[in-house]
Amino acid sequence: MMYSEKVMEHFTNPRNVGEIEDADGVGEVGNAKCGDIMKMYLKIENNIIVDVKFKTFGCGSAIASSSMATELIKGKSIEEVLKITNKAVAEALDGLPPVKMHCSVLAEEAIKSALKDYSEKSGVEIEELKDFE
Ligand code: FES
Ligand code: FES
Repeated sequence: MMYSEKVMEHFTNPRNVGEIEDADGVGEVGNAKCGDIMKMYLKIENNIIVDVKFKTFGCGSAIASSSMATELIKGKSIEEVLKITNKAVAEALDGLPPVKMHCSVLAEEAIKSALKDYSEKSGVEIEELKDFE
């Protein structure tokens, strides 16, 4: 079996799918490698991710990665979230096939992009994202 049970489970039953209308930060990223698109919505209160939703137009691994990423960041502080790498997302899924690792990169980037948007809208500086485009 190429995909772990966790990948299959998050793909079949993704968590936190949807939009947040009054999101504090929205990030959208595309994967140059495959053309898949991921959109991430964050609700942030007192530096904590209190809610997160996503929409992914992409492959099963991208959907599983976004689903797992939302679970990993919910309830965490911005500082903690910034430490969550695509590798951590893939590990939480019990691994991804090597050719699918870029799908987890999409999740990490979507979160960073949403945090950057939050930073720009709220004026809260996030040092780590200064150079993130
Ligand atoms: Fe077709 Fe990602 S490029 S599923
Ligand atoms: Fe491109 Fe999965 S194949 S994000």
